[in-house]
Amino acid sequence: MRTTPARTRIGYPFLVTSPDPQRYHVLTFGCQMNAHDSERITGMLEGRGMVAAADADDADVLVFNTCTIREKPDQKLYDQLKHAKGSKRRRKGAQVIAVGGCLVEAQKDNLLREFPWVDVAFGPGRIHDLGNYLELAEGEGAGVGHVPGHGEGFYGIGDERSFAAELPTQRERPHQAWVQISMGCNMKCAYCIVPAVRGREQSRSFTDIVSEVERLAADGVREVSLLGQNVNSYGNELPRDGSPRTFAELLRAVDAVDGIDRIRYTSPHPAHMRDDVIAAMAECDAVMPQLHLPLQAGSSRVLKAMRRTYSRERFVALAEKIRAAIPDISLSTDIIVGFPGETEAEFLETVEVCREVEFDGAYTFIYSPRTGTEAAGLVDDFIPNEEQHRRLSHLIDVVRGIATERHQRFVGTVQPVLVEDRSDSTVRQRQRLHGRTPHNVKVNFEGDARAGEIVPVDIVHANSESMLGRQLVATDLRS
Ligand code: 5AD
Ligand code: SF4
Repeated sequence: MRTTPARTRIGYPFLVTSPDPQRYHVLTFGCQMNAHDSERITGMLEGRGMVAAADADDADVLVFNTCTIREKPDQKLYDQLKHAKGSKRRRKGAQVIAVGGCLVEAQKDNLLREFPWVDVAFGPGRIHDLGNYLELAEGEGAGVGHVPGHGEGFYGIGDERSFAAELPTQRERPHQAWVQISMGCNMKCAYCIVPAVRGREQSRSFTDIVSEVERLAADGVREVSLLGQNVNSYGNELPRDGSPRTFAELLRAVDAVDGIDRIRYTSPHPAHMRDDVIAAMAECDAVMPQLHLPLQAGSSRVLKAMRRTYSRERFVALAEKIRAAIPDISLSTDIIVGFPGETEAEFLETVEVCREVEFDGAYTFIYSPRTGTEAAGLVDDFIPNEEQHRRLSHLIDVVRGIATERHQRFVGTVQPVLVEDRSDSTVRQRQRLHGRTPHNVKVNFEGDARAGEIVPVDIVHANSESMLGRQLVATDLRS
């Protein structure tokens, strides 16, 4: 059944029944949590009988899943929304424009006013409301009498939120899955908008998570990534009734699921990286020797101003402890440069810590003030933009150098690579493929493996971002 959106007299887009399926397009900004939410949005739309559109202009339902962590994604979204206005006009209004995600929650007071061609806005905890809205729209908007030209908004960071995990999923790759274990964050990092837009931390039930992983394994998934804003504080607010509830216990329970070869998680907070978590990582075969551990800054004074709750010394000691338990682990990190008041000497401490810890990679960001956060008020201490850029490019050079050096340890070794290509050709033929090693390094290689297989690859070259290799045999390895 094809349903074509149009506008009713009251300015409500409705869906007219016709023989072809309706087409959707989802544009995703931001973090892995958002990418996963987009899988849920896509799963929900496909569950309604819709199919993927060729591009945004071709879509009957166009969804923007937004991010507001820094200013840059905001600007990118505004440009794309303006473009969508033109495409909707060319389609004579026959397009539902939906905007979801963190920016919606942050801008709930003016988004629909500033972009009146947006039909529906929904915060990150309100994904299910997009489905409800489309349901109503399909009923020709009867009984929905909002102001012509103004969309409908669904917001909330309290009890009205619900886990997107309960919605159907359309996975990007059949052999890999994200599993949401918590939502929200109770930390108060001075720069961060997340607690304001995703709300207080709420852990998903332990048994629900393990059941989802079991279902995924039965469906052919070999790698799961556990997701949360502060993933290793999982369980803090769950009842202490003797049943398993900590993050370490969760890692062990997921490790015990048959068929799951690889477990990763993101993002942990260094302050919650307890010994039981490190022990579980060291002891569980499927938990990969890789950890993304956000440092943010190398100076204890800046860390304190950021309200990160650890010092430079504690972070370095933690990294040493993790390396002692899991000797060859790859550590990656997030770093913000140019936090208000950061001196040159303090910035150089960040560079020193990078050299000391030897990160295998780092996401580096320029501090971006977010309205409503504590640090946004430190206007007098803002670092000039040119200076922020200078620090960033210096840091990127250092981080790249370290990562290139670190990756050399793999050259000349054979790594088990999980093939990520989408190709599911039944005929084996040699072709260019890519996949990831246990340490989460991307490998480009020539081989005849199929998507989802774990095959041995001889590593011949490595740079800061990726490696080159040759597949040895087509036999699938179970790690
Ligand atoms: N400015 C710059 N970077 C930020 N991050 C979070 N908030 C900001 C901000 N206001 C970075 C942090 C975090 C990552 C997801 O984004 O490094 O770990
Ligand atoms: Fe933001 Fe800090 Fe929570 Fe991470 S731990 S989401 S940086 S407030």
